[in-house]
Amino acid sequence: MTKEDVKKKMRKFGIPDERIVHGEQVCDLALKIAEKMEKKKGGVLNRDHIIAGAIAHDAGFTRLSGKPITVNILGKKEITVQDDVMLHGLYGADIAKEMGYSEEVTLIILRHELIVITREERKALGILPLPDHDLVPETWEEKAVMYADGLMFLAVGLGLDLWKDPEAPAKGFFDLLKATIGRLSEEKITLSHPVLERSNRLNAELKEYADPGWVNM
Ligand SMILES: [Fe+2]
Ligand SMILES: [Fe+2]
Repeated sequence: MTKEDVKKKMRKFGIPDERIVHGEQVCDLALKIAEKMEKKKGGVLNRDHIIAGAIAHDAGFTRLSGKPITVNILGKKEITVQDDVMLHGLYGADIAKEMGYSEEVTLIILRHELIVITREERKALGILPLPDHDLVPETWEEKAVMYADGLMFLAVGLGLDLWKDPEAPAKGFFDLLKATIGRLSEEKITLSHPVLERSNRLNAELKEYADPGWVNM
């Protein structure tokens, strides 16, 4: 499978260019991460799964129907997202299935969001509809794509230092979670929320497979 094959399919499904461009950036980074994973821990990662999953990872944005909200992230950046943004991985996995991709690819997309959250937690927080799986990356391909997208958002987009600051993921997603999940739940979203703690732990596990130089920090 080539990047061109996936991009062609994305266009056929009406996915806008900006999502394809971002998908390709995440793909290039994920392939570098995959190489480093192989060097450090051995084994061979499936490049076809990474290419399809990475390029199509944000396709689900096209199916969101929530109202736009503006979120100020850490006082650094204002982003406008739809208030059902937490569903874009789920919808993206549906689209990948319709495109004919395998379950390995749909799971990469479902689990790419870096907010590492179980099905039960989503239920408790009122994020519906529920996926069939936890949004906790299990395979190395899932981890490579998720971390590549996390680097793009947290390191490149927000300028957070994922290597020196163990809480960077929690900080980067805190305001977003408060603005989206917070409105659905009685449960207070704090920096020590189990979902954010788990996201920090996964970041700590994965940072050895990336290089700060790749994101020009
Ligand atoms: Fe995404
Ligand atoms: Fe993304």
